[in-house]
Amino acid sequence: MQLERFAKQVAIITGAASGIGQACATRFAEEGANVACLDVMDELNEETAAECRELGVEAIALHCDVADAGSVRAAVEATMDRWGRVDVLVAAAGIYSGAPLPEVPLEQWQRLIDINLTGVFLCNQAVAPIMMEQQSGSIINMSSMLGKTSFPASAEYSASKSGIIGLTRSVAMELAPYSATANSVCPGNTLTDMVKNVAGRVGSREGMTAEEWLQMRADDCPMKRLAEPWEIAGVVAFLASEDSRYITGQAIEVDGGMIMS
Ligand SMILES: NC(=O)c1ccc[n+]([C@@H]2O[C@H](COP(=O)([O-])OP(=O)(O)OC[C@H]3O[C@@H](n4cnc5c(N)ncnc54)[C@H](O)[C@@H]3O)[C@@H](O)[C@H]2O)c1
Repeated sequence: MQLERFAKQVAIITGAASGIGQACATRFAEEGANVACLDVMDELNEETAAECRELGVEAIALHCDVADAGSVRAAVEATMDRWGRVDVLVAAAGIYSGAPLPEVPLEQWQRLIDINLTGVFLCNQAVAPIMMEQQSGSIINMSSMLGKTSFPASAEYSASKSGIIGLTRSVAMELAPYSATANSVCPGNTLTDMVKNVAGRVGSREGMTAEEWLQMRADDCPMKRLAEPWEIAGVVAFLASEDSRYITGQAIEVDGGMIMS
């Protein structure tokens, strides 16, 4: 049975060109939402929007650099011009740039924080007043298991993802009187381009092939496998649905048991 939980609703998805963001965009489209796809990779982003339209909804691809306040503002304005409301924000755009602490140039720290943390702040700030005015809405910010725990050689990533959890709690407090929610999702290793690239880079630093590194991460997980992007999108959709209206300010692990182990 096809659920239509988001019929007549509007979802903004950042990072929609690839991986988890792409899976979220198509999930919301499958369930009836009109979708604004935001990303810096224009061609792939347009492909995601086209995939959404094939599912029978309206969808637009908007070039948006989430680290740029003007770019975020313009994308949210374009969404409002088109549909006049924003019911869901999924802030999934992000990068990974791990290296041992002594080897992290300041520019690398700054760039990652700009995209992963300031980008989420800017997107939340742009949609919050709309949701307050509507007296409804759901924000889902993509943190990570590395927001709750840490590995070596991931200082800036871990800091950004922990920051998202704190930011989301504060946004949740501000939205609560308006019946709108904000939660973060903390995925474990999920099979996307990001993880495949990390596997190549980190694997070679640790003397492994990408395949060996991915297998090691799967073996570390109680469920003995990585997540698929649709498994993250399903939880995101739940957090935007009526079934989760009393859940706010939470950071939900979707990690096959990694953190508890
Ligand atoms: N894959 C994982 O294992 C994993 C685990 C935990 C958390 N996450 C988080 O999930 C989110 C999605 O990651 P993914 O694995 O799908 O990665 P991905 O690389 O497949 O997708 C990330 C997307 O973000 C976009 N993006 C990057 N910089 C941007 C910017 N400045 N403005 C707009 N868009 C930008 C990219 O173009 C890309 O389309 C990220 O926030 C990531 O940190 C991923």
